[in-house]
Amino acid sequence: MTRVPLAERIDEYASMPAGTLASGEAEHCVGELLDALERGDIRAAERATDGSWRAVPWVKRGILLGFRVGHLVEMEGTLSFVDKHTYPTRRMRVEDNVRVVPGGSSIRRGAYVAPGVVCMPPMYVNVGAYIDSGTMVDSHALVGSCAQIGKRVHISAAAQIGGVLEPVNAAPVVIEDDVLVGGNCGVYEGTIVRARAVLAAGVVLTRGTPVFDLVRETVYKANGEVPLEIPEAAVVVPGTRAIKSGWGAEQQLGLQAPVIVKYRDEKTDLATTLESWLR
Ligand SMILES: CC(C)(COP(=O)(O)OP(=O)(O)OC[C@H]1O[C@@H](n2cnc3c(N)ncnc32)[C@H](O)[C@@H]1OP(=O)(O)O)[C@@H](O)C(=O)NCCC(=O)NCCS
Repeated sequence: MTRVPLAERIDEYASMPAGTLASGEAEHCVGELLDALERGDIRAAERATDGSWRAVPWVKRGILLGFRVGHLVEMEGTLSFVDKHTYPTRRMRVEDNVRVVPGGSSIRRGAYVAPGVVCMPPMYVNVGAYIDSGTMVDSHALVGSCAQIGKRVHISAAAQIGGVLEPVNAAPVVIEDDVLVGGNCGVYEGTIVRARAVLAAGVVLTRGTPVFDLVRETVYKANGEVPLEIPEAAVVVPGTRAIKSGWGAEQQLGLQAPVIVKYRDEKTDLATTLESWLR
């Protein structure tokens, strides 16, 4: 008997209205999907030969199906704590109807984390994320759902890599190989950071953020279906631009405006190598 491909089965279950879904079979299907994601056999987004990145809608549909067929359970963790007996941790029950996701650090089912990745607590890797070998995810960092992280990336302390599950065709954030994402950075809404780029501490990138390139004298911005893209080897630092007219100008206000001050050189390599010694 030929087996229906996983993508087709997922799409079929995902399109069934509530109440008609045979949750046992659908759950089995979701299990197969999550196993394949964890092995890195399939990904929530793929790089085409022209370098563009596209979401894989059926994979994201399958992840969402996993939430639909899931029910609340009490999960036993392996962590142990010691504290004053008067202040024990609250023990939540299913009937509290509060979801407490386990662990100071958690790698959620359905995320691929390659051998050689270092995870510093606390950090969180959400479902569908793909993290390639040699990458470091530092304390208080988030790798959001379906985010794609390359090899030897440093996601510094408190950096937030946004995730996206819905809409299913929305491309996730992509951080390519050898990027340094500095402390407290935020990369959101499908932004692509090309290989070897450096985001200095505190840079925040969204679909609405214009990025000013001092070297090439141009401005990068998301446009329609095209996400914001940081060019290969760009060094981006947090900047501002003055409001030129109206009341904002009278108040001498400025807006945040990330600036590409240079493209990676030996000095940048040294600065980022020093960071890697701290590992
Ligand atoms: C970007 C970084 C790697 C420096 O790279 P570099 O190639 O050595 O940069 P340079 O010192 O040559 O700086 C180039 C220009 O950018 C400016 N610049 C550099 N870093 C900056 C920053 N973080 N904010 C604002 N401006 C910055 C410099 O003043 C310089 O401008 P100038 O030529 O007008 O003087 C470093 O500043 C950085 O942010 N490192 C990440 C730190 C971090 O988050 N660590 C995490 C540990 S968990």
